[in-house]
Amino acid sequence: MHNATLGSVETGETRQQAVPAPFDLRGRVALVTGAGRGIGRATALLLARCGAAVVVNDLVEGAAERVAAEVAGLGRTSLAAPADVSRPESVEALYGAVSAAHLDVDLLVNNAGISAYRPILECTEDDWDRHVDIMAKGTFLMIRAFAPGMVARRFGRIVNLGSYVAQGNCATKNFGPYCAAKYAVVGLTEVAAQELAPYVTVNAVGPGDVATEMMEHEWQQEADRRGLDVATVREEYRQRLLLGDFQRPDDIAGAIAFLCSPLASQITASHLIISGGLPYRFAGTHS
Ligand SMILES: NC(=O)c1ccc[n+]([C@@H]2O[C@H](COP(=O)([O-])OP(=O)(O)OC[C@H]3O[C@@H](n4cnc5c(N)ncnc54)[C@H](O)[C@@H]3O)[C@@H](O)[C@H]2O)c1
Repeated sequence: MHNATLGSVETGETRQQAVPAPFDLRGRVALVTGAGRGIGRATALLLARCGAAVVVNDLVEGAAERVAAEVAGLGRTSLAAPADVSRPESVEALYGAVSAAHLDVDLLVNNAGISAYRPILECTEDDWDRHVDIMAKGTFLMIRAFAPGMVARRFGRIVNLGSYVAQGNCATKNFGPYCAAKYAVVGLTEVAAQELAPYVTVNAVGPGDVATEMMEHEWQQEADRRGLDVATVREEYRQRLLLGDFQRPDDIAGAIAFLCSPLASQITASHLIISGGLPYRFAGTHS
């Protein structure tokens, strides 16, 4: 674990002065799953810039350690906590590591996820299990482990990664297990919000197309399948967006930090869509 006094003036604090932190989360402890890269990493760093101590989880140990070191570089307490969120024994060990570091998690971001571009009739049982286990079951296991402490301390913010696909008429063909898992996450969000009220809020954010390794991989899979250049597929996706370009991980991190902030204290059971206008200009480009 890297220790630092919350709010201390260090190198990271000086960098933050250039771009002011949008919210004050000093004194809070955050845990972000799948934070080794992409949206999770951007979220861990933004929450740290806002003053929170951050537990950095990822399946990939080295990635969790790298991002935890970046959080420490911002002058915040950080803990690298590699674990597979889809496995109960692994989540139990993660809970044990966080408790042993005397960190009480106030802000839980269930971000870990995977996606594969494949028609239902070609999906294996393993495709189904991996999507549902990592995203739906992982979110359930993490809430079950960390929400009791939040309820006992009478404060908690849980933000789950939904998706714009988990809204009526937005599920996208060739992503069957992914869409099913994201609908499950949104349903679980609504139920947890009711059961954990009034001190703990539970919301989801629903990104559209964020330029991350996950998305690059999807574009490549679709390009291979359709016999197209990946740049052509990427441009087809870009053309669908009302706002003209893909979201960046920071755009999603900003919405997550907002839902963790005092400004959002009356928001629960919501699914905040951050999709650059998807699906309004959807032109049926998938084949
Ligand atoms: N990129 C998008 O366009 C987009 C759109 C909608 C929703 N999302 C959701 O946002 C979240 C993050 O997406 P991203 O684009 O940053 O993905 P990414 O693939 O770049 O990062 C996902 C991270 O999760 C980690 N991970 C995977 N399985 C894990 C497990 N079992 N335990 C712990 N960590 C695990 C990976 O190692 C990786 O570091 C996902 O839930 C994804 O479904 C992304």
